[in-house]
Amino acid sequence: MARLYLDHAATTPLDPAVLEAMLPWMGCDTGFGNPASVTHAYGRTAAAAVEQARRQVADLLQAPAEGVIFTGSATEAINMAVLGSMRFSMQRGRGSHLVTCATEHSAVLAACEQLRREGATITVLPVDANGQLSLADLQEALRDDTVLVSLMLGNNETGVCHDIAAVAALLQGHPARLHVDATQAVGKVPVHLPALQADLLSLSAHKFHGPKGVGALWRCPEPRVRLQPLLFGGGQESGERSGTQAVHQIVGLGEACGLAANALPAEMQRLTALRDRLEAGLRATGIPMVCNGAGRRLPHISNLSFPGLHGEALLADIEPELAVALGSACSSADARGSHVLRAMGLDETLSLSAFRLSVGRRTTPADIDVAVAVVARSAQRLLRLSPLQPRGVAG
Ligand SMILES: Cc1ncc(COP(=O)(O)O)c(C=O)c1O
Repeated sequence: MARLYLDHAATTPLDPAVLEAMLPWMGCDTGFGNPASVTHAYGRTAAAAVEQARRQVADLLQAPAEGVIFTGSATEAINMAVLGSMRFSMQRGRGSHLVTCATEHSAVLAACEQLRREGATITVLPVDANGQLSLADLQEALRDDTVLVSLMLGNNETGVCHDIAAVAALLQGHPARLHVDATQAVGKVPVHLPALQADLLSLSAHKFHGPKGVGALWRCPEPRVRLQPLLFGGGQESGERSGTQAVHQIVGLGEACGLAANALPAEMQRLTALRDRLEAGLRATGIPMVCNGAGRRLPHISNLSFPGLHGEALLADIEPELAVALGSACSSADARGSHVLRAMGLDETLSLSAFRLSVGRRTTPADIDVAVAVVARSAQRLLRLSPLQPRGVAG
């Protein structure tokens, strides 16, 4: 096991306080009730815990609690938002056009592909070399029949942020709904719905020190954004996500939201300082380095390339000491490399060279100094041994 974990964009360790909050709901004494069993205290106690967690999620987002729908992941929340709102509209002949961006997470892009097969028209906006989209392009893409605009708050590979408040302002007066994938942003930067003005927002507990297997979709309750459910059954979660609620997971998500709300904005500043220390430290080694993505960025992610050095070779070399990623955990198996970096127009050499470091709640400045020393030592050695040629050397 690597000594230092710097892959917090993939997942984060459970906070001990979250684990403690979850345990009573995993035991066999009283916490096992079904929240739908209103006829006895076992059920009512569990239902009260679910409702408290709903308020904790809503408080973090500064939004009404009735808007929170618990899901099994951000992927599920995103699918509910994208497929659910489009199918609702398409089935009623009210429009079938969606606008998204080339650098979105595969949960959004794959859901859009599915919609395309179902007859929807999808516009995928490009980004510039910094990973930023143009509001003029968005304006131009909007049509009378546009049902949904789906954009992420911060990118999981580069950390690059879209200006969601500006997007919402641009959509003022247009009937299209705005869905924001805030999975990487929650707990790292303020994610407040009054400022973002989104109609739908997705998040996932395991990205901010909560448990895996639970997420949430917030959808505007008033006027209510209508969704075609993905799951049919017992009508839980206001009929939009049937299935017995996973009380322990939901309690864990609520607790993680409470901790995140208390820690911000100090945690944002701390993470930013760690990321800047990392990038400044590596730059100071004198090894030519490119930081992929610029402009407003999430504070915990650095996507870097050492031109001429294969990212995979670097990661294998540092693995005994550092756990870091090539790109996203989801795209690392894709032989064509990162769709995000391709969309930013990175040439093959830079793209092959890219790797991602992401810091978290337990990362310290001393950890960063170790990481800089390990990465620099390895990069210098590998560059001396087998430099990548500008094109096509897979190493
Ligand atoms: C931006 C973004 N959206 C969605 C997801 C999917 O989250 P989950 O693992 O909860 O399905 C991730 C996780 O990698 C992500 O980073």
